[in-house]
Amino acid sequence: MNDWQFTAADQQVLQRIMQLRRDVRGNRFCRDEIPAAELDRILQAATWAPSVGFSQPWQFVLVRDRAAREKIAASFAEENRKAAPLFADKKREQYVQLKLEGILETPLNIAVFYTPSPQPVLGQTSINEVGEYSVVCAVQNMWLMARALNIGMGWVSILDPSTVKAVLNAPADHKLVAYLCVGYVTEFCEQPELETLQWESRRPLPSVVLTDSYPAPES
Ligand SMILES: Cc1cc2nc3c(=O)[nH]c(=O)nc-3n(C[C@H](O)[C@H](O)[C@H](O)COP(=O)(O)O)c2cc1C
Repeated sequence: MNDWQFTAADQQVLQRIMQLRRDVRGNRFCRDEIPAAELDRILQAATWAPSVGFSQPWQFVLVRDRAAREKIAASFAEENRKAAPLFADKKREQYVQLKLEGILETPLNIAVFYTPSPQPVLGQTSINEVGEYSVVCAVQNMWLMARALNIGMGWVSILDPSTVKAVLNAPADHKLVAYLCVGYVTEFCEQPELETLQWESRRPLPSVVLTDSYPAPES
């Protein structure tokens, strides 16, 4: 048994790491290499994530190759061009000003894949997506460990997954879950950039918590 008791100071540190974790884009990354020991700690943290049936259905591809990253950056540019018209008027004007990735500004990208099991997985028999949710848990562990090491991470989802898979020679049944840009930063913002820019505001806790059920529909 492990009955380790965390202190109030430990709890405070965890809360600070969670509160001060930020999505970092190319406007705030520096190009310094991440030492191997630090990268190991980030990847190790990923493997401590919970996973359905302890299936650990993840694969991490460390992408440093410039040519590969240029192809993936081109996919971002194309997808981002298609995304802009989906927003109306002022939002579109604001959207096109946003820096939404750091693929070439960071020394390291990490592609995170979901690797489905050919065998039935304990706990994954009713809701198939729980395999992918497990991979997202791993990404969050990486994000928090990186922040604890004062390393920035940004999640880029404006990509064509089939392009990324082709560039990285990923097997057909592996699914891209996350494409991450990792590097040291010039600064960590106090709050999400999208909040500072008034794109979105944080939803207050009472507005996202219900007790017992959703309200009954009005008849
Ligand atoms: C699943 C997922 C996908 C995301 N994709 C992008 C993205 O493509 N580009 C981007 O700039 N930020 C992306 N983000 C980062 C969010 O914009 C960011 O988490 C949010 O604005 C809150 O900011 P914070 O992470 O600094 O607290 C993504 C985040 C998540 C969880």
